[in-house]
Amino acid sequence: MYKIFNTVDDVSRYTAQRLFDQICAKADSVLGLATGSTMEPVYARLMQYLEQDPVDVSRLTTFNLDEYIGLGPEHAQSYCFYMYQHLFNQLRIPGERVHLPDGTAENAERACQAYTEAIQAIGGMDLQLLGIGTNGHIGFNEPKTPFDSRTHVIELTEQTRIDNGRFFTDQREVPTHAITMGIQEILEAKEVILVATGPKKAAIMAELYHGEVSEDLPASVLKMHRNATIVMDKEAAALLPTKEGLIAGA
Ligand code: F6R
Repeated sequence: MYKIFNTVDDVSRYTAQRLFDQICAKADSVLGLATGSTMEPVYARLMQYLEQDPVDVSRLTTFNLDEYIGLGPEHAQSYCFYMYQHLFNQLRIPGERVHLPDGTAENAERACQAYTEAIQAIGGMDLQLLGIGTNGHIGFNEPKTPFDSRTHVIELTEQTRIDNGRFFTDQREVPTHAITMGIQEILEAKEVILVATGPKKAAIMAELYHGEVSEDLPASVLKMHRNATIVMDKEAAALLPTKEGLIAGA
């Protein structure tokens, strides 16, 4: 379940290769995608693999995990903008197969319901990619989010708003709410890969490794998943016990 690599580049190669293999094995795969700084080198590697070895992506479907409420696709810090910048401008998946929660929907609750229905209609994700917040959130499912939640509106914690303030010019610009895919939808993915890199993730990864399954630590739900892999670089894994076999590719 845990894989530790030496560098961010090793982690990104491994994760991108898993995505690439999934696309090659099943041309109509449904991918659950994440944003954030952890995923940037992953998507860069994936694009490199697809350039070296072009694969038909016209039947892929994607669902992104989350979006800030109030930020439209043209906003440079929206997750929609991020996805086109890092992946979709190059990866030509037909537009109708690309799904992102609508942060500017007039009726956010209805938008959440529609997102849930779209995920259910297609039968859920084949492969779900996740990052992790320093407070253990997955998607924007903050601590204490019920494990049986589906796509919903969430109030971001102060910790998350501070962590993500680095992407905005002013801390006050960080949205207070977001739409996120729910934990139940993440759990229903056939396979999950959670990626954590860098020293800022070391404390939460140790908590995750040692802790019980609890709604206080949303990522802990992955311990109940049949096919979840947690991939880290050495910095994120710095506080984990060193065990033979835990380290892959070192
Ligand atoms: C973003 C998402 C979040 C991030 C997490 C880590 O779509 O789902 O859970 O994965 O906040 O973000 P970074 O990678 O910027 O540390």
